[in-house]
Amino acid sequence: MTEERRTIDFIDTEMARLFEQRMKAVESIAMAKKASGAPVEDLKREKEIIAARSEALGNQALRPYYRDFLRSVISVSKDYQTDLIYGDKMPGSDIIIENGCISRAGELLGISGGKVLVVTDTGVPARYANTVAASIESKGASVSICTVPQGEANKNIQSYTHILEALVEGGFTRTDAVVAVGGGVVGDMAGFAAATFMRGIRFFNIPTTLLSQVDSSIGGKTAIDFAGVKNIVGAFHFPSKVLIDPQTLSTLDPRQLHNGLAEAIKMGATGDAELFEIIEKSAGLSQDLPQIIRRCLNYKKSVVDSDPRESGLRRVLNFGHTVGHAIEACGAGQYLHGESVSLGMLYFAGGDARRRIATVLEKYDLPVSHNIPAEKLLDFISHDKKASGDKITVVRVTEIGSFAFETISIKELPL
Ligand SMILES: NC(=O)c1ccc[n+]([C@@H]2O[C@H](COP(=O)([O-])OP(=O)(O)OC[C@H]3O[C@@H](n4cnc5c(N)ncnc54)[C@H](O)[C@@H]3O)[C@@H](O)[C@H]2O)c1
Repeated sequence: MTEERRTIDFIDTEMARLFEQRMKAVESIAMAKKASGAPVEDLKREKEIIAARSEALGNQALRPYYRDFLRSVISVSKDYQTDLIYGDKMPGSDIIIENGCISRAGELLGISGGKVLVVTDTGVPARYANTVAASIESKGASVSICTVPQGEANKNIQSYTHILEALVEGGFTRTDAVVAVGGGVVGDMAGFAAATFMRGIRFFNIPTTLLSQVDSSIGGKTAIDFAGVKNIVGAFHFPSKVLIDPQTLSTLDPRQLHNGLAEAIKMGATGDAELFEIIEKSAGLSQDLPQIIRRCLNYKKSVVDSDPRESGLRRVLNFGHTVGHAIEACGAGQYLHGESVSLGMLYFAGGDARRRIATVLEKYDLPVSHNIPAEKLLDFISHDKKASGDKITVVRVTEIGSFAFETISIKELPL
């Protein structure tokens, strides 16, 4: 026993020394990444490293443990790099996550004059838009607030027109800006107005739902629903800056909070096993939210950076969405977006990953079964814009933290 303990002590001391050496190298790489603007995360390389290094282990039984060990080391290194490069800012220095940051919106968004239209909706506590407006005004800009009716049913051409009218009537020009303060509905619609007004003016996003903070606020997708089809008219228009104030989530309905968490579960399941574990084990969500938001954005940013126009890798973000969209549409309002994605993920999750996903969904009162007839879903998917011919590309997860694309015929969908 004593001999073994001595061996462990020796190894731990050596590892501390090697860790310091490793982090020195990580530091140099961080500086090179900062200089070149390369993203901190390189998921493909990480996967390859973990696979190759664990292969080198003679004792096969130890490989899963070693893979976990490597994942933690890589994750710590990425956190260190992110801190070194961005401080409290996210990659691209365009995302700021900070409790109470909306009251410093003027300074943080860097708006120093001109006209600003703050767009919000009737369900968002008015004090958030007022706080943002006052802060921007204090920096010398002339600010007006445009409030549209809340809800997905209002993410339509009428609300979009309403925003455009405010811009035209307010005499906005190319150098002015739009700031969204609200959930994904406001963000998508205000972003689309900013993308199209005078062929595109500056857009800033201040998301106030968990779904919009972890997902819809970055990625550049803007849209409105039209002729009964969700997000059918839209444009890619990246926000100049995103301000995330986790404190705004305190007024959010718990159902809406969990709805947003479904997207975080999706990201953890496909590409960040540790994020998944944080959500799985969380004993107090509000405490863990800043960390969850940061990890989701890191993940989404790395995926979007490598595929800004959604032609390849970015489709991983559609895990659970193929059937999820159909459930959302056919459920006629019964299920929110994240709830539909929760149900959708279970169709394409296998093995132990499926069990873990179902368990975590139940933990957060997200649905794991529904009673919409399969024929109805199939009919919707056949007409969905993402299907090309009768083929469809789906994302499968059989091990938490990794995924595979598979192109199948619509008839092969496991409905
Ligand atoms: N652009 C993208 O990449 C992307 C990604 C995912 C989803 N989306 C879109 O996002 C939309 C869904 O977004 P959502 O879930 O945020 O819904 P939402 O914007 O409708 O917000 C949900 C409800 O919460 C209210 N609300 C917002 N912030 C609040 C706060 N802090 N306190 C209290 N109430 C608040 C809203 O008024 C609304 O009634 C969909 O239209 C979807 O298509 C876009």
